[in-house]
Amino acid sequence: MTDQTATINGQVATFESGETIFAAAERLGVHIPTLCHDPRLKPAGACRTCLVEIKGRPKLVPACATSLEAGMEIDTENERVERHVKTLLSMYLADHDSQAAGTSPGADGGKNENQLLDLARRHDAPMDWPTLENIRKGRPEDLNPYVAFEAEKCIACARCVRYCAEVESVSAITMAERGGETTVFTSDGRSLMDTTCELCGGCIDTCPTGAMTEKKPLSMESVESDALSKVRTTCNYCGVGCQMDLNVDVSANDGRGKVVKITSPKPGTTTNDGNLCVKGRFAYDFIDHSERLTTPLVRDGDGQLREATWDEAYRRAAEGLLKVAARHGNDSLGFVSSSRCTMEENFLMQKLSRTVFHTNNIHQCAAT
Ligand code: SF4
Ligand code: SF4
Ligand code: FES
Repeated sequence: MTDQTATINGQVATFESGETIFAAAERLGVHIPTLCHDPRLKPAGACRTCLVEIKGRPKLVPACATSLEAGMEIDTENERVERHVKTLLSMYLADHDSQAAGTSPGADGGKNENQLLDLARRHDAPMDWPTLENIRKGRPEDLNPYVAFEAEKCIACARCVRYCAEVESVSAITMAERGGETTVFTSDGRSLMDTTCELCGGCIDTCPTGAMTEKKPLSMESVESDALSKVRTTCNYCGVGCQMDLNVDVSANDGRGKVVKITSPKPGTTTNDGNLCVKGRFAYDFIDHSERLTTPLVRDGDGQLREATWDEAYRRAAEGLLKVAARHGNDSLGFVSSSRCTMEENFLMQKLSRTVFHTNNIHQCAAT
């Protein structure tokens, strides 16, 4: 059924059964603050940031976890709701190392997004409440190369744990302890390297407070924020073609730029839905690696490789292929393309095989 209606701040919302108040409000352009919500995850209703008022109901309800019902009259921005949001955000900030979050260098130079601070500023929440002593445990030194956890920034919203279970399906991390000591832990406090963790970095991406951060960014500490530019591109590690954002320090390398971090686009905007794997998110050192081949090499009679022009390299490859075809026949040749090539490049490769060398021996490794 699609003809049910409710109102949100007086605007009529038409909805389908099962749609949440938050989803309908988002469609209408109504801002509802959230912290534990991630559209990739089942609603948890854990943080209570998104509470709204429904006419006739005594208690505020979480918009992210409450389905719309026909005739509901919802108010998301009256005085009661706003007072609740301000108080709640202030309480989260008191239990959160806001000095470290986004303002002083953390594992990634303090440049991870911090939705908690952004919301507190947007809702004008008092930010000067005394900070509580942190009693939340971190993990003992974890030798994994990519994911850092800073317990003093965690608000125990469980987004990271739910992401790990529901999207990555590995449950490498879990919520542990009770009350103010609630924290994110691994089995027996092991390093992520000794768990089922796939080092996808999705927990970093979904964390709303910067408690999960990257250990890796190459030189984020030294990058001025106005020198950082995001460039959308397609990952070339496999044939899936995930979209990713290269965070480029445009002032580095004599103005040629340098990739210092890779992030995923917002969930719901690209086919990979905000997810990346370990290679896409972390394996970018090769871009500026000193041993990276940037010039073609050819081997001379002495067996040694030497630098050559592209024209010479193409000519040598063509001569070699023609020689084999002349001696052993065209079907002695086989062409193997790559899932890291674009569709157009793969098309050209089969043209080369079939039209130039008259053989159907053409394969591409993403033939799955
Ligand atoms: S990096 Fe990925 S697999 Fe590892 S704990 Fe985080 S979400 Fe789970
Ligand atoms: S680390 Fe981040 S996502 Fe995980 S529970 Fe803490 S605040 Fe939430
Ligand atoms: S965002 Fe709705 S309860 Fe957390």
